[in-house]
Amino acid sequence: MEHSGNSNPRPVAESISEMVELVLPNDANPLGALLGGRLMHWIDLAGGFAAHRHSRSFVVTASTDHLDFLVPVQVGDLVIFKSSVNRAYRTSMEVGIKVWVESFFTGERKHVSSAYLTYVAVDRHGRKLPVPQVIPQTEDEIRRFEDAGHRREIRNAEKQRKANASNRG
Ligand SMILES: CC(C)(COP(=O)(O)OP(=O)(O)OC[C@H]1O[C@@H](n2cnc3c(N)ncnc32)[C@H](O)[C@@H]1OP(=O)(O)O)[C@@H](O)C(=O)NCCC(=O)NCCS
Repeated sequence: MEHSGNSNPRPVAESISEMVELVLPNDANPLGALLGGRLMHWIDLAGGFAAHRHSRSFVVTASTDHLDFLVPVQVGDLVIFKSSVNRAYRTSMEVGIKVWVESFFTGERKHVSSAYLTYVAVDRHGRKLPVPQVIPQTEDEIRRFEDAGHRREIRNAEKQRKANASNRG
């Protein structure tokens, strides 16, 4: 199997990414509130940057865990996304993305959403590639690394349950 690049394990710090978006009228519903689908699109992009920085390859989104939208976001607000790879496996990476809304005038920040997305590294033909392992260094990174392992077990169990259900017809 071809590799995505340097296969040495990488610290989480190398994948940390930040993205800022200004909410414009085209991102909002008729009441001026940000559309959930637009936020999901941005979350996917912000997570993809971290997965790309970790693997230095093309990546595709394999799955998104549960998403909550905790506070409304209005036209004119700034939306801040911070993402990093929590843990890597053979070809996949779990990325955590945290989202805040920043008031344009006061600068006050509120937590909007936290998401866990899984990306798979692929080559230009869409074939899966092995990815470097993650080295968690800080206390928070170690906690996220361990929590990612539990979430993977839950995802795998759910995938198995769905496969069994579909085999039963
Ligand atoms: C995601 C995709 C590459 C998985 O490939 P696959 O051959 O079906 O799956 P495999 O069973 O070989 O799994 C490959 C890796 O993906 C992970 N994976 C597969 N489905 C997953 C899911 N639903 N959630 C989380 N991880 C998943 C596996 O755990 C495995 O990880 P590992 O190699 O690190 O152990 C493939 O299904 C695909 O290309 N999907 C479309 C992706 C896409 O287009 N996304 C954009 C949105 S449309």
